[in-house]
Amino acid sequence: MSLRLGDIAPDFTAETTQGTINFHEWLGNSWGMLFSHPADFTPVCTTELGKTALLKDDFAKRGVKVIAVSVDDLASHGKWVPDIEEVNGVVVNFPIIADSDRNVATLYDMIHPNASEKATVRSVFIIGPDKKIKLTLTYPASTGRNFTELLRVIDSLQLTSNYQVATPADWKDGEDTIVVPAVSTEDAIAKFPKGVRIVKPYLRYTPQPNK
Ligand code: BEZ
Repeated sequence: MSLRLGDIAPDFTAETTQGTINFHEWLGNSWGMLFSHPADFTPVCTTELGKTALLKDDFAKRGVKVIAVSVDDLASHGKWVPDIEEVNGVVVNFPIIADSDRNVATLYDMIHPNASEKATVRSVFIIGPDKKIKLTLTYPASTGRNFTELLRVIDSLQLTSNYQVATPADWKDGEDTIVVPAVSTEDAIAKFPKGVRIVKPYLRYTPQPNK
């Protein structure tokens, strides 16, 4: 059965471009993003891994550790990384798992045989400090992911976790947030000193609490 939101992210030990990693140990108390790539030396992946490296500071400031997985071996990754660095003008500063036995791909259901028998789809798992899966996302191999959206989702998840607010459709950093239904309006008024705008008894906006 595929993994669902709220499930504990499966633990594993794997060889990576930064040495052997035990996933849960490596995560520590951080947020994490595990994302899969169909194969080494593929064009879309080369742009995605470069983009991730370029966004190093954006992930770091959100306390998110990033780890990629591809079902090729370490020798292959070692040859591919210089290409990624050359094409994107960056240093690849996060580990890439060498998953040639497909252990991680299988644990996370990243191979969808009706799409491809061998390559993984483009999966993303955002994992909270409690090791629980907070977001799953699946893109086809031919579509590069939107990293601005991934950062936006992380911001939303962290706002919910830290302040009990949700985010409305198309929300962007700095815009008003929504008080989660579990907080009563009376409690919300006490909790959010910037004010609560009541549109419906169940739709209460408050300015983004961490701005
Ligand atoms: C890739 O870059 O991984 C890719 C591009 C087009 C189709 C399938 C895979």
